[in-house]
Amino acid sequence: MELMMKAVMLFLLLNQVVQARISQHPCDFPAIFNFGDSNSDTGGLSAAFGQAGPPHGESFFHGPAGRFCDGRLVIDFIAQSFGLPYLSAYLDALGSNFTHGANFATAGSTIRPQNTTLAQSGFSPFSLNVQWYQFNDFHRRVRTFLTQKDDPVFKKLMPKVEDFSRALYTFDIGQNDLTAGLFQNLTVEEVRASVPDIVGQFKTVVKDIYNQGGRSFWIHNTGPFGCLPYVMDRQLVTAGQVDKFGCVGPFNDLAQFFNHRLKQTIDQLREDLPKASLTYVDVYTVKHALITQATRHGFEHPLRACCGHGGKYNFNMHIGCGGKVKVKGKDVLVGKACDDPTVMINWDGVHYTQAANKWIFDHIVNGSFSDPPIPIGLACHRQY
Ligand SMILES: *[C@@H]1O[C@H](CO)[C@@H](O)[C@H](O)[C@H]1NC(C)=O
Ligand SMILES: *[C@@H]1O[C@H](CO)[C@@H](O)[C@H](O)[C@H]1NC(C)=O
Ligand SMILES: *[C@@H]1O[C@H](CO)[C@@H](O)[C@H](O)[C@H]1NC(C)=O
Ligand SMILES: *[C@@H]1O[C@H](CO)[C@@H](O)[C@H](O)[C@H]1NC(C)=O
Repeated sequence: MELMMKAVMLFLLLNQVVQARISQHPCDFPAIFNFGDSNSDTGGLSAAFGQAGPPHGESFFHGPAGRFCDGRLVIDFIAQSFGLPYLSAYLDALGSNFTHGANFATAGSTIRPQNTTLAQSGFSPFSLNVQWYQFNDFHRRVRTFLTQKDDPVFKKLMPKVEDFSRALYTFDIGQNDLTAGLFQNLTVEEVRASVPDIVGQFKTVVKDIYNQGGRSFWIHNTGPFGCLPYVMDRQLVTAGQVDKFGCVGPFNDLAQFFNHRLKQTIDQLREDLPKASLTYVDVYTVKHALITQATRHGFEHPLRACCGHGGKYNFNMHIGCGGKVKVKGKDVLVGKACDDPTVMINWDGVHYTQAANKWIFDHIVNGSFSDPPIPIGLACHRQY
């Protein structure tokens, strides 16, 4: 009898969920504003520090396109799914069109400002707080231009003032804060101790955007970076740390610790920001499943870079994808990418291939890995 009751209650509950789904209309986001690192950089670092050269971009753009990838990134598939153009990098001076959003992400970005230069450590000076300054100024200028000057050319390059509150704000950042600590030879414990400060600074930026009218936030957690060649190939890894998948277990645990705190932070933000819809997206689990069950999903050599040079992972941190190497006295491009990037997961030892990005996008888009379980097209709704 009790079981019966439970079944009935469950049925009613499910019914409600289904009803809620049906009653919610798609969000129709007019623009996307993205913040992040190389996982979603569509040209920022290239604009500031020189183009990521060939063979980056070869699978889709047929040449360099500001992405550290052979083709499109998850953010490109997101924009495409809304029928919006790919996002222009805020820093790109020519050919940019910000009518449907802007991308503030740069490769190597961290949440916390680093106390080193790009040349010293490889981390971008455009940390999340700087991306926020840029967004803030972008927003201010759009308001000024559109109210003071009725210039038809500007109008065709900028979002509408009202689009800022209707836009989707996307985030994919945090991985570099963790690796920055590890690369300075901090212990996993020491890096862990910095996580509250890192997520605290993340929280500040979300609040700042909210205070400027942002309402819909789609936030990726950080991936299993302990499975990426550029991390595994370092001296800081000892044999005992490698797990049954060939990944560095303690580093993935660190990523999960960060994710746990990020999720708590987002729960807190939901209370603090009553008009915001905040969706936490568990990209970690999707990427981890892809890497650890690669064959089942139609991929090969999950821990090997497609474009790289030598070693166990086809990766050498001194001679990266697109770099030059001397062979019999001649300069040869590292970058004859692997024969078939469509079956590879890792592009250059650091980043995912377009094929992997598409797979990841396909798995997160319908909300199966989101909290709350909201598909991206409904991410403007607070309740689900
Ligand atoms: C950079 O230095 C400042 C001042 O000492 C410190 O508060 C901050 O935590 C440092 N940032 C990082 C990422 O270590
Ligand atoms: C920018 O893109 C929008 C939408 O795709 C288009 O309507 C507009 O004409 C473009 N602006 C310019 C200057 O080409
Ligand atoms: C970290 O340790 C490695 C191995 O002992 C050493 O080669 C490297 O210079 C150290 N890095 C820093 C930033 O201290
Ligand atoms: C979401 O998409 C994935 C991949 O296509 C699929 O396996 C999963 O069943 C879908 N989930 C829902 C709730 O539709």
